[in-house]
Amino acid sequence: MSNVLSSSEVIALTKTHNYGTWRKQNNWNPTHLVSADGCYFTDGNGKQFLDFSSQLMCMNLGHNNPAVIKAIQDQAATLPYAAPFYATTARAELSQLLLEVLPEGLTKFFFTTSGTEANEAAFKIARMYTGKTKIIARYRSYHGSTSGSIAATGDPRRWPMEPAGKGQGVIFGPEVNCYKCPIRHTYPGCGIACADYLEHMIANEGDVAAVLVEPVVGTNGVLIPPPEYFPKLRKICDDHGVLLIADEVMSGWGRTGKWFAMDNWGVKPDILTTAKGITSAYVPLGLCATSGKIAEFFDENYFAHGHTYEAHPMTLAPAVATIHEMQRLGLVERANEMGAYLGGKLHGGR
Ligand SMILES: Cc1ncc(COP(=O)(O)O)c(C=O)c1O
Repeated sequence: MSNVLSSSEVIALTKTHNYGTWRKQNNWNPTHLVSADGCYFTDGNGKQFLDFSSQLMCMNLGHNNPAVIKAIQDQAATLPYAAPFYATTARAELSQLLLEVLPEGLTKFFFTTSGTEANEAAFKIARMYTGKTKIIARYRSYHGSTSGSIAATGDPRRWPMEPAGKGQGVIFGPEVNCYKCPIRHTYPGCGIACADYLEHMIANEGDVAAVLVEPVVGTNGVLIPPPEYFPKLRKICDDHGVLLIADEVMSGWGRTGKWFAMDNWGVKPDILTTAKGITSAYVPLGLCATSGKIAEFFDENYFAHGHTYEAHPMTLAPAVATIHEMQRLGLVERANEMGAYLGGKLHGGR
């Protein structure tokens, strides 16, 4: 018997024995993905599709990039794994590159294998550093699927977990959404009242460690804040000794025409989390980057966090190759140009 499975066998085995995420199972009919190149992928019947969403908004370099594939092959042949307490060349090279591309001031890094885990790390770090517990997130948000990060998710994906998530110390405020303002104000006359509301929460809740934001909200509607929002929120956080965490899992890596969305407003978060585009999704890598001030705190205080796969060399080497490829191809600049072009068209220009 041949062990080459037909497309219908692949689909049946997958559907029967694997969970389809975020759905009832009985209407899941996955497409059999066979190969991919550039911005196209091909199914088991040889039909080609334009990958308009770059899979899950993550394959920023496109499929089949030779430099990233070679980095994976070379790393596998040299050092496929190292425990997190070792220094590795890939780890050092990636750290150097991150200092080049991340918003200035983010100088110390904890690596994970997903955006979800990057956020879990951020919550623990923020709580250890401030000695405070509460995290303010916003309703229209998604921050991941495990118990802490789903508890910090404002959208309905949180509901099936409740009331278990309620114990996680997260409270929700209004998102910034000038198109459909959650507190029924109108920009610019509002004076950014949605940020004032968060300040009111900080002042009255007490014990707030951090405000957690997606700088450009992703799966909850691609909400772009007005120019005043982040400078104002940064000042509010500074005035109250609260950390600002930017979840750039989706908005990072050139997707807003800058390396990171926060660069659009020149505002520096205390912690930035990311994943997806960091390796163009060729391998699972997440990052929790913290400020020098936070880093200094842990010089003398116990850093109570870790994973077996933290700083896994097979994830870091392709990230180095991904950043080099983005730089070589000028992809952030390209995204900026294409964004202006497409945005113009969407706004009715010709
Ligand atoms: C803004 C944001 N944060 C966190 C996550 C979770 O990342 P992951 O799916 O890699 O765990 C996502 C995933 O889509 C996201 O869009």
